[in-house]
Amino acid sequence: MEPECQTAANAEHPVVDDQPIADGQDTPRIIIIDDNTAIHDDFRKILCDDSGGDAEFDSLEASLFGKTCSRSKATRSYELNSAYQGEEGYRMVCEAIDEGRPYSTAFVDMRMPPGWDGVETIRQLWKADPDLQVLICTAFSDYSWSEIVDQLGNSDQLLILRKPFDAAEVSQIAAAMTKKRKPTKASRNTVAKLEQIVARKTQEIRREMKQREEAQQRLLEKEEQLRESQKLEAVGMLAGGIAHEFNNLMQIILSYAQFGLDSSSTDDAIHEDLKCILKAGERATALTRQLLGFSRRKALSCVNVDVNHVIAELVDLAQPLLGSRIQIHQNLHPSTTMVHADSSELQQALLNCCINSRDSMDAAGELSISTELVDLDEAYCRRDEVLVPGRYVCISISDTGCGMPPDVVSHIFEPFYTTKDVGTGTGLGLAMVYGLVKQHQGHIDVESEVGLGTTFRIYLPAMTSPQMVEVVAPAPIDHHEDFETIGGTILVADDEELLRQVSSRILQRAGFNVMLACDGLEAVELVSRKSNGIDLAVLDVMMPNLTGREACARIRSINPDLPVLFCTGHDPEVARAGEVPAGYPIVHKPFTAEDLLSSVRSLLDQHENAIQVQPLST
Ligand SMILES: Nc1ncnc2c1ncn2[C@@H]1O[C@H](COP(=O)(O)OP(=O)(O)OP(=O)(O)O)[C@@H](O)[C@H]1O
Ligand SMILES: [Mg+2]
Repeated sequence: MEPECQTAANAEHPVVDDQPIADGQDTPRIIIIDDNTAIHDDFRKILCDDSGGDAEFDSLEASLFGKTCSRSKATRSYELNSAYQGEEGYRMVCEAIDEGRPYSTAFVDMRMPPGWDGVETIRQLWKADPDLQVLICTAFSDYSWSEIVDQLGNSDQLLILRKPFDAAEVSQIAAAMTKKRKPTKASRNTVAKLEQIVARKTQEIRREMKQREEAQQRLLEKEEQLRESQKLEAVGMLAGGIAHEFNNLMQIILSYAQFGLDSSSTDDAIHEDLKCILKAGERATALTRQLLGFSRRKALSCVNVDVNHVIAELVDLAQPLLGSRIQIHQNLHPSTTMVHADSSELQQALLNCCINSRDSMDAAGELSISTELVDLDEAYCRRDEVLVPGRYVCISISDTGCGMPPDVVSHIFEPFYTTKDVGTGTGLGLAMVYGLVKQHQGHIDVESEVGLGTTFRIYLPAMTSPQMVEVVAPAPIDHHEDFETIGGTILVADDEELLRQVSSRILQRAGFNVMLACDGLEAVELVSRKSNGIDLAVLDVMMPNLTGREACARIRSINPDLPVLFCTGHDPEVARAGEVPAGYPIVHKPFTAEDLLSSVRSLLDQHENAIQVQPLST
């Protein structure tokens, strides 16, 4: 334990203070720490007696520099204090510091039984006063120089003085070391200041680097999110394009299978085969519809709806599908959560998420559905190009299932991505959810941890946000209509030969006369030639020469009363993009005979010049 630093001397060895020589400046202080009292007297003689060592020192200086020393008495004077043990010396050094009059130099003996030895004494002295210069006084080597330096870790303020002492040497060393305290202290202060500056600068640089790294990270995340949504956008366009082509082909396949079925008897072997074709065709059509859902081109029937109600119905629907091993918790926002949405599509999307959660929970688990109103700010909206700041209804679907690793999460919204066994999942569930959410100008995000579970959050603009464009679904079809009683002449314009034939056959079978045009231009020519002989025009949207829209404009200028029905294998998006003039009815491919005929019939009914039944001309 370190001794307390209180007294400057002990009773056995009284401290002898030599008075400083007043010269208007602080007199340098030296402390001698040695258990041998005789040594103290020797030093006092050398350092404080002009007739002693100094005379010798002067003659030495003269022999070296060729002149007599001009030092004043004051410059050779010291305040000399004595301590006889290391502990005592340490206390005196502490006191001197407290008084504000520190020692410049300590003369320390190496062996001072029974207390600290020289090395320990110096170690303690430097703890109290790091600027203290030390002179080790020793008769023989307990330690080598390098051992001493190793133990003390500093050689800058240390010298060894071998006994017996040479007076001139002692005097010279004392003078040099005393002078050295000031620059040592100054340089220590400078180093400390420099260290402070370096530490501050390092901190600033670290802070700047951290800020830069965070900004870089944010940029990377944003780029990643943008890339992800652009990738899904591109896949969506591709899916939409494929669905369009597919719809045209399905129209032909389904129609011809139906024609074959109609004209064959149930006894015919081909009858069952055709039924199989129709069944498969219907599945393909459903798949195409899902693809269109992903590419955000589904016809929506949007109304103002309370999400809480949609969820209440959903839970009833989902309960039997989830089974008794999964507990459902609801935590719905207490007030209304109105959005402008297609409620049945929304319900389907949420059901897809619930079924995914069920599949992720092998054993018993928990599924929580909650709603809340949130305000998405500018910063949050930066993650999704279409998001605008404002109030949103947030629907969270959370499960305690197996969770997903990041490489799965990065693919889940892609159509046909599935980790389920072949035949178990199509990988279209979340693609549909994604497409629907986007079509509602919303946002979806997912948080998942392997072994812990998954949370999907769907944000839909709350009713305070700008209203969405409403796409009205086609009018419901009355399947029991008796088409045999209808007649008239219908112009069918389609650039696809087989599709023209399909429409022609359906219409002819229902009792219509049919005129065919292979593009928009031919359709216009036919109307201009036989204006009064045509009762309705069915125009494909995409045709060479003149598109359906362009042909319609010319036809209406020739005959403003002629009803026009548009037909598209594309999707409602085309209608929204202005390819179909506002207010015109559309029939979507693949359509059944009933779809086409009911659209034709209702259009004719609406028309004030409803046509009279005309005899069949084949
Ligand atoms: N809640 C969930 N927990 C764990 N994994 C999930 C969860 N939801 C989706 N996934 C993962 O995302 C994949 C894609 O889901 P998605 O609903 O699109 O297709 P699917 O469920 O595989 O097939 P489908 O829905 O067409 O029957 C799943 O195969 C599964 O790996
Ligand atoms: Mg699924």
